[in-house]
Amino acid sequence: MSQGKRVGIVGAGNVGATVAYSLAMLGSCHEIILRDNKIDVAKGKALDMSQAASAVRSHTVVSVAEEMSDLVDCDVVVVTAGSPRLPGMSRDDLLMINAKITKDVIQGIAKYSPNAIVIMVSNPLDAMTYVALKESGFDRSRVIGMAGILDSSRMAAFIQEKLGYGGGQIRASVMGGHGDDMVPLPRYSTVAGVPLTDVLTHDEIDEIVDRTRHGGAEIVGYLKTGSAYYAPAKSTAIMVDAILKDTKQIHPCAVCLEGEYGYSDVVSGVPVMLGAKGAEKIIEVTLDEQENAMFAQSCASVQTLIDTLNKNNFFEGK
Ligand code: 2OP
Repeated sequence: MSQGKRVGIVGAGNVGATVAYSLAMLGSCHEIILRDNKIDVAKGKALDMSQAASAVRSHTVVSVAEEMSDLVDCDVVVVTAGSPRLPGMSRDDLLMINAKITKDVIQGIAKYSPNAIVIMVSNPLDAMTYVALKESGFDRSRVIGMAGILDSSRMAAFIQEKLGYGGGQIRASVMGGHGDDMVPLPRYSTVAGVPLTDVLTHDEIDEIVDRTRHGGAEIVGYLKTGSAYYAPAKSTAIMVDAILKDTKQIHPCAVCLEGEYGYSDVVSGVPVMLGAKGAEKIIEVTLDEQENAMFAQSCASVQTLIDTLNKNNFFEGK
């Protein structure tokens, strides 16, 4: 396998295509392979992106896998395939439909790109990451969900909007699952190192926390026909880039916990160090009583989805 060279993207809809475009513009990898059931649409997007890459003198070429068996020897595979979240639909409504799609896709990845690091983007994110982990049989370091970077970026944007300054200097922190009970952490959020509580009132911070939790739904409400994709795609591209460049930087990502934070066999968003081997290290942040309770609530919500999958014998034979 040629390390750091080939990225597969399953699902060339808005999110998948925008991930590909971001990576092509960054020149993060030599080759991007799009896989989508709408083969002609994927081919059109791949051509368009390859031409954009030429325009910026990027070496990246974008091609199409007509079958899963064409998605061979990828270093990283991003999975965005799934039914989209429509207005009024919770992320959890998508559970059984997308679990089945994820299972099929992951079996193909395990077969044709057995050394890949998988980045899950499909919703409900934490449960799909769990499905991908179980169905692939990969080590947990190689199955990572994208959500924390997105949720933290949303929180940072809302802080900037509220303050009217500080753009590019805001570090917001969000842990937990990618659901309505995600855990924004104002205590670990700063503006150029200044604690949030020094620049915003408690009511303003509460408003930001609430808006962050519903940040995805806010955009679905405007778009009507689908969910956000610029920030989700950029957040995913940041993860791919960190892995390909072996940056060893810390990003909030969804991983299966094995004792960390007191939880096991459940996926949640926590700070992880990303490198060439995937989620190489899980960082345990000190949480106070209230933060711990919120994290527990968020893990319990994800556990409920996993329980539903189990009740429906989804993992039968595993
Ligand atoms: C979002 O938060 C749909 O999960 C996606 O925008």
